[in-house]
Amino acid sequence: MLKIKYSKKVAQILANREQDKISRKAAERVGQRHGQFRQIKEEYSRYHRELLRQGRLPVKSTEKGFWGVSVCDEVFELFQKIGLSQYRNFIDLGSGDGRVVLIASLFTNATGVECDQELLSKSIEIKHKLGLSASFLKEDFYKHGIAPYDMVFSFPDEPLYRGLDAKLRKELQGRLIVYGPFLNTTKLQREASVAINGNIFHLYKNYS
Ligand SMILES: C[S@@+](CC[C@H](N)C(=O)[O-])C[C@H]1O[C@@H](n2cnc3c(N)ncnc32)[C@H](O)[C@@H]1O
Repeated sequence: MLKIKYSKKVAQILANREQDKISRKAAERVGQRHGQFRQIKEEYSRYHRELLRQGRLPVKSTEKGFWGVSVCDEVFELFQKIGLSQYRNFIDLGSGDGRVVLIASLFTNATGVECDQELLSKSIEIKHKLGLSASFLKEDFYKHGIAPYDMVFSFPDEPLYRGLDAKLRKELQGRLIVYGPFLNTTKLQREASVAINGNIFHLYKNYS
């Protein structure tokens, strides 16, 4: 193989150029991510308006619980703040209309588990419409193993101590984000809290 020897100066110029190329690529990826996020947000606003036209709100009782929605802007900001790209596999336990999973898919491999067919169909419809890559499973999340996921998200519709906490303490190997009214209902040890727009997300790690 031909080996070229550069002077120190030339080698430094080449290294700087390489660094510039990497920085430019990273900036492009961030710009692209913001563009895709705007499309996701627009799709979920459209869905909200569609529900309102039908005299409905984005809340309903489902087979296994209750559906309510996270705020897209807050979720996107959270994922930027915690650097979601450094995690390999993300899962939303009870993914509702899929918004959290699709936002997470802009950073990493993202999966949603949901019991409600209407919500699951909407998630898949928006995923296809925007050409995003994510997995949506119609399943009881208690039956889905969470060990392979290094970031787990839960906006629980009941206090975690009623059941999900036991599963988390047994299976969680990565980190957990909890959002919504049932914060502080787990025995897991809290690592951090992130406040966005007055709403709080708690981050947990399983030390057991
Ligand atoms: C409060 S919503 C959160 C939706 C979504 N994660 C978000 O943040 O926008 C909780 C969701 O969990 C689902 N759910 C509750 N228990 C479940 C279970 N055992 N298996 C699958 N889905 C479940 C409900 O149907 C509901 O859609």
